[in-house]
Amino acid sequence: MKERILVTGGTGYIGSHTVVELQNAGYEVIIIDNLSNSSADVVDNIEQVTGIRPAFEKLDCLDFAGLDAMFGKYKGIKAIIHFAASKAVGESVQKPLLYYRNNLGSLINLLELMPKHGVEGIVFSSSCTVYGQPDPENLPVTEKAPIKKAESPYGNTKQINEEIIRDTIASGAPITSILLRYFNPIGAHPTALLGELPNGVPQNLIPYLTQTAIGIREKLTVFGDDYNTPDGSCIRDFINVVDLAKAHVVAIDRILSKKQKDKVEVFNIGTGRGLSVLELIHAFEKATGVKLNYEIGKRRAGDIEQVWADPALANEELGWKAETSIEDTLRSAWNWQLKLRERGIQ
Ligand code: WQD
Repeated sequence: MKERILVTGGTGYIGSHTVVELQNAGYEVIIIDNLSNSSADVVDNIEQVTGIRPAFEKLDCLDFAGLDAMFGKYKGIKAIIHFAASKAVGESVQKPLLYYRNNLGSLINLLELMPKHGVEGIVFSSSCTVYGQPDPENLPVTEKAPIKKAESPYGNTKQINEEIIRDTIASGAPITSILLRYFNPIGAHPTALLGELPNGVPQNLIPYLTQTAIGIREKLTVFGDDYNTPDGSCIRDFINVVDLAKAHVVAIDRILSKKQKDKVEVFNIGTGRGLSVLELIHAFEKATGVKLNYEIGKRRAGDIEQVWADPALANEELGWKAETSIEDTLRSAWNWQLKLRERGIQ
């Protein structure tokens, strides 16, 4: 068994897939999650996938004393992957203080406790939202592209948290960090035992799409076909969630083997390929044989027109590359939706 890794938000969508990959790589995983947007059953499903039950504590990262006690209970945690955060863009506009409190307070607590408990490094879930709409000459976007003013309090918490980590490490804290800027994570585990389970009406494209395909929603609205893109719909870099999870394992290996070139490193985690919303819909229909009911609607406020990653740095430095085809990824999302119906969940 390799080192102990703490995964905050480990029962969530990306967190649960990452726990599986960490276990597959031999790490011992401790999950903490306040279950605000996930369920403890996910721990059972992780165990079904890997045959290993990760330790789980229901704990909120805002609970400083609780975190301190948890580090005391699970001695020798070597690194943290910090997923736990509020993540609904629209809600963050309505409830900015909730977002600033949760997302900033959680990270600050962890950073304060790391040196006391000998934790060496932290991988932080950042986002391509930090780039806003890159200027055309900066597409595909590299890590050197300028950080643009955030479009939402949610996006702002990602930017501020990156700064908090940089400032803390610059002040001499005995830790290192890797910031992973995710593009648009989609898909589910190939076993269909883990996937994305949004509360209520989905805001993100893929859960809305698969819920429409299965008949929970009547029709998918494509938010705008009058953008300055080849087919007029927005362009994104859709990254398979298992591929994304694997990037975290590589980042943890790099921290613990002290291979980092800087105490804070940042990597884009994307495929390098931009796909439009309409192209994605057609790829889904082709991959699954399911016809999708959709219509063109108005633009959604705050949407970025087009963004996709230049993942060269992650490819070269981390030796990580997105591998799963878009067809397999879309099939996995569809299989997950079918499995949810089988389980009577949706
Ligand atoms: C993708 C595209 C929509 C729904 C946001 C966050 C990002 C990340 C993921 C994490 C856009 C279009 C969507 C629909 C549509 N964060 N769309 N009809 O906005 O790129 O990224 O979520 O949690 O940080 O900013 O993702 O999936 O909402 O939208 O046409 O019903 O699909 O307009 O072009 P987005 P998304």
